[in-house]
This record gives sequence, C-alpha cells and structure tokens, in this order.
Amino acid sequence: MSLVSMLIADRIESATRYYDRWMNLITWGQDKRVREAALGYIDAGDRVLDVGCGTGTLAVKAAQKGAQVTGFDLSPAMLRLAEEKARVAGVEVNFRRGYAQSPPLDEEPFDTITATFALSEMSPDEAEMVVADMAARLKVGGRMIVADEARPTNFLLRLSSGLQRAVVTLLTFIAIEERPTRLHDLREMLKGVGMTVTEEQRFQSGALWLVVAERRGEITRPQKEIMEPVIHRGIKGAWYDVLCWLFVLPLAVKSGLYRLGKPNPASPLFLTSNFYMTFKIVVKALHGRDCWLLVEDSEGWNVWCATDTGGFNAEKAWALMRAYDLEITLDHQRIVIPRLGGKIARRLKELTGWEVIKGPIQAGDLPEFIENDFVTMPAMRSLDRYYDLHHRLRIGTLSALVAPLCVIPFLFVLREYLGLFLAFGVLSSFVLAIFHYWVPGRTGIVKELVLGALLSVGLVGWTMARSEPLSVRLVWVLLAILVYCFIYGYTYQASTPVIYWKRIWK
Ligand SMILES: C[S@@+](CC[C@H](N)C(=O)[O-])C[C@H]1O[C@@H](n2cnc3c(N)ncnc32)[C@H](O)[C@@H]1O
Repeated sequence: MSLVSMLIADRIESATRYYDRWMNLITWGQDKRVREAALGYIDAGDRVLDVGCGTGTLAVKAAQKGAQVTGFDLSPAMLRLAEEKARVAGVEVNFRRGYAQSPPLDEEPFDTITATFALSEMSPDEAEMVVADMAARLKVGGRMIVADEARPTNFLLRLSSGLQRAVVTLLTFIAIEERPTRLHDLREMLKGVGMTVTEEQRFQSGALWLVVAERRGEITRPQKEIMEPVIHRGIKGAWYDVLCWLFVLPLAVKSGLYRLGKPNPASPLFLTSNFYMTFKIVVKALHGRDCWLLVEDSEGWNVWCATDTGGFNAEKAWALMRAYDLEITLDHQRIVIPRLGGKIARRLKELTGWEVIKGPIQAGDLPEFIENDFVTMPAMRSLDRYYDLHHRLRIGTLSALVAPLCVIPFLFVLREYLGLFLAFGVLSSFVLAIFHYWVPGRTGIVKELVLGALLSVGLVGWTMARSEPLSVRLVWVLLAILVYCFIYGYTYQASTPVIYWKRIWK
C-alpha cells in the first residue's frame, strides 16, 4: 500500500503534501504507532540512517530526541517536505537524495538504521541487497529497525488484511495503473545477511510489522544459486502457454542467474524479464549456445509492459548483478538487454559502468544477433515486424473479451441497447488493435472516444433518417456511449501489453 503513496507522490508532485494523511488513512492510523515504536529504539547521540525517509517524520523525531540523523530518499518532492518539517521542528537532519541501491553515504558506521514502509517498494532481490548493504554500514552492536506490511498469521486476520489489500490494489490501479508490491519476509531477510533478530512487533491486526535486528558480527551477502532453466512440457506446458498467451496471469519464473549450456566467465550475458513466456522464448532462442541469462523480477510481466510501468528496471538488474558478483565472476563487463526494455540502458550503464547493448526486439533474432557480433540489423529493431497482424489480432481478441464485462450495466438500464454496445465493444477492440496508429488520439481513452463519437453520429443520423424525433432516451444513450468509451478505453489501455502507448510511440 505504501507504493501507492510513493508513486502518486512521484508522479504528481503536489500530491506529496497529502502523503502523511494518506498513509495515516490507509493504515488506520497505525503508521504513527509503527514509527513511535521504531523511535523507542533510538537514543540521544546515536548516529541514525533512515532509508527511504519520505517526508521525514521519523528522521525529524529522531533528531528531536537528540540523534544525529541522515535521511535519504529517491524522491526530491518527498525530501523537500522532509526539509520543511525539520525546519519547522528546528532540528538539523542531513537529508540526501539517492537510491537505497547506491546510497551517497560516507563511511562512518551507524548505530541505528531504520527503514519504515520503504522496502516494500523494492523487489525481493533489491530489498535483500539493500538490507545487506545497510547492515554492513552498522556498527557491530548496532540495530536495524525495519517495518512494513506483513501477512497476518491468523486466518481471519489474513482474510481481512487480504480484502483491505484488494481494495487498495484496485484504487492503485485506477489511480495510477500500478500494483502495490509484494510482501517481504523481513525477518528472513535480516537473518539472511547475518543479523540477529531480537524483537518483533505487530500492528493493525498483524497487517504491519516491525522487526528489530542486531549486528553481532560479519555481514554476509545473501547467497544466490545459479539455476538451470526449466521449460514445462506436456499438459502443464500447454496450460502455461495458454495462460501466457491470454495474458491473464503474470506467470513468473524465479529471478536470478541461469546457466544456458556450459557457460564460462567469457560467455555473453543476457538480461530478460521473469514472465514465463518471455523466459521460455529467450531460452529456446539461445538453445545450443553457452551463455548466462540474468532474469529480473518483473513480477511476471513481459519486458515491454514491465519497462513502461517501471517493473523492469536498471536497479533490479544491478541488484542481481551484485548478488551474483558478476563483476568478479565474468571476464567481461558487457550485458545485452532486450530492445523493448531499452529505456533502462542509460541508467544501467550509470549504475554498473558496464557496456550495455540493446539487443533485438524479438528473442528469435538472438542467434543472428550473436553471429553478427552483437550488432542489431535494422529488421531486428523494427517494431512493426514485432507488432505484426497476428500480434494485433491477439490484442484485439483479448480486449474484446473485456467487452461483455463493460456492458453489464446495460442489463439494468437501456437494455435494448445491450447488443449494440456489445457489438461496438468487440468491433472497437479490433479497430483499436489493428489500426492503432490511424485512429486519432494518444491514449486508449481518447481513441475509443473518437470511435464512440462516430457511433453517436451514426445513431443520430439513423434516427433522423427514419424521421424519428430526437428523444430524451437518445440523449441518455449518447451519454452512456461517452461513459462506456471512457471505461472501455481505459481498460483497453491498461489491460494489454501496449500499456501507455503514448509513451512508447512518442
Ligand atoms: C512509503 S514511503 C515511506 C516513507 C517513510 N519512511 C515513512 O515512514 O513514512 C517510501 C519512501 O521510500 C522511498 N524509496 C522507495 N524506493 C527507494 C529506493 N530504492 N531508494 C531510496 N528511496 C526509496 C520513496 O521515495 C518513498 O519516499
């Protein structure tokens, strides 16, 4: 749920002003108790680091208690509010902008490191790496206090927390077309890096938890196992293929490093998403070659969609590269990323210093790309070739499946138009998918409204041609078309792999 706040904050800067209130609302006021509990572990004079400090509530309170606090966060808008809070409170906090994955910090170790509601915004791979990095910055005897969402242990509580999460997920999706991140096992994460968990507190009927761990010795990086790819065959394989084809479920494979063939330190390294279908296609394309495949946790979405929604990003890839010590393991510093995820190239280069090569759009072209000395031919970069008629028909079919859902209200009102709206929904799905570039408008909503306007003109023309009066009922129908197009255009845009066309095609 915290992701909602952060994403809204990041996208609509003015919304950061409401972050504290929003957070308070969605946690039923328990966020304050969580921070108070964290504060209880901080003493005057402690050197404290608050990771993902947000609007600085905890950092400022710790400073008021006499601690020497550094707070860092990736969002400049949040940091501005944090600085303002510190100014009003009359305390000094060293607020810095940075990614938890590459924090701009000096070397002096900290007594306490806190991360409240921040780790849930990272993938498990990233969070593990951040926890290990942070733990290594603690003094021996120092404490790490992490708090986030949790899965309650009691069944009924789990059910109610699940329902609440579902509502928040829906709101998130409607607001920003994103999904809140998954829950991390904070306890195991801390233990995994060699910290000793000393205390645990639960809040909001167990849906929030705070874990305290102490550094008693060496910090270890979580050990990652190099994996062999598993492609399902037989009925299971066919079932997986159908689900993937329909895009109904984000079927995911485990993120991490895979061994294809018998790679050695000089073998090439490829990056892809953890959507099962993408993984399968890449593995098949590279069959018979010796290489490394780094699979990033894109939450089961394909590279194209996930890149645009931020689920496939440079930070996650980097966390994995570090987890596997690829800088040491490999003889080279070159990674091939999928072209549809090309947006992450610059950031990945910035983080790693590696050569980042954008490969072909289609994994099927990988063998030719390798033969061509890792240079893409123009055809390998052609989006039209990738998004061919077959692909368009598939998107059209998938969107058309949503049409029956959108006409449900017509079972109750304007019933005689149910068939018309259904036919329009199905037809417009295919028109949008096939003639996407030709339909005016930049978003699915605008494009669908254009088609709706055509339908409206047709309806009015038909009524007039039959010399029927323009009734109030017809006005209601025109209004219904407007609402229908808005909802349908929205689902079209969000439910297909072409999320955010406008950004991809601009
Ligand atoms: C939900 S807010 C929590 C803020 C604050 N800790 C609190 O208790 O209210 C999460 C914060 O983590 C920051 N954040 C998320 N991912 C981050 C990352 N990789 N590095 C640094 N900050 C991050 C966001 O910008 C956001 O301000």
